[in-house]
Amino acid sequence: MKRCLSLLLPCIAAMTLAQAAPGAWTHQSSEGEDATSAHYYFYSESGGKVDRVRWVWNGGAQHDPTVTDFLIGPDRIAAFLAEPILASGGVIIPPEGYHKRTAEICKKHDILYISDEVVTAFGRLGHWFASKDVFGIEPDIITFAKGVTSGYVPLGGLAISDKVLARVTGKNSNGAWFSNGFTYSGHPVSCAAVLANFDIIEREKILEHVREVAPHFQASLRTLTKSPLVGEVRGLGLMACVELVADRQNVGAESTDLDGEIAKRVDRHCFELGLIVRPIGNMCVMSPPLVITKAEIDKMVSILRQALDRTAEDLTKEGKWKA
Ligand SMILES: Cc1ncc(COP(=O)(O)O)c(C=O)c1O
Repeated sequence: MKRCLSLLLPCIAAMTLAQAAPGAWTHQSSEGEDATSAHYYFYSESGGKVDRVRWVWNGGAQHDPTVTDFLIGPDRIAAFLAEPILASGGVIIPPEGYHKRTAEICKKHDILYISDEVVTAFGRLGHWFASKDVFGIEPDIITFAKGVTSGYVPLGGLAISDKVLARVTGKNSNGAWFSNGFTYSGHPVSCAAVLANFDIIEREKILEHVREVAPHFQASLRTLTKSPLVGEVRGLGLMACVELVADRQNVGAESTDLDGEIAKRVDRHCFELGLIVRPIGNMCVMSPPLVITKAEIDKMVSILRQALDRTAEDLTKEGKWKA
């Protein structure tokens, strides 16, 4: 993976993106996952393992590496797919060592480890990729999208490790052609945006900037736990979630309708005050621009605080909630 990733960036600058091996370009993120499965089937056929048909996904914040090892049976697992941080699932940070342990188990059983870095790659956690730099693992395949163009135009892709590449090329391919692509794979307009984006990230030292402001972002948001409506604040880098609850005794339990109502109101007040948060159930999820300054972080947290206060006030007046 190291060679793959270090190759990926300079290669991109030097040649047509669609040819920037090892990897593949897609139009959006899910296609990256489709292309990943195609790679897997080709890979496993070369390795004589076509009987492995299950994919394990770490969704639902399962976060129990023993599941792979003991419950399903390693011989029945084709690949393990995990986000470094579960993003849309509520910004769930894995327990210390979780990714290392799952990666070790996968390696032991020759199960492909696929890291879905659609959210975390290209700066969100202050690094080009989070798998190695933040979590110390080298996946077999990394899928990415969003940050590769900073979202200005659609593009996704996957980076493939030497191990997978060796299995599907040269003699190991047994003369078979691996044929996989999409109409707009590696579209030149999107690829031009990638080059411009990477130039800016490097020139303006955006990764360094994220690493500098992220601790302030995380610490400032955590001050919101003083509000009786906040059950938990969690996050890493420039990703965060403020989880709202009517009853703090219920943190971690199934969210109630009132929890969801609180989040909707906080979201509405934030919008009126000039801040857009992403409401997911009873959570306000935030991924601010990577160039956010400390002053803007302070403004953001101040708006959230006002929105929480206004929500508490409204609900108390309406007799729906009391502190
Ligand atoms: C981690 C992750 N993977 C995959 C996807 C799917 O992306 P797309 O809609 O571009 O296919 C998303 C979408 O938000 C995502 O957050």
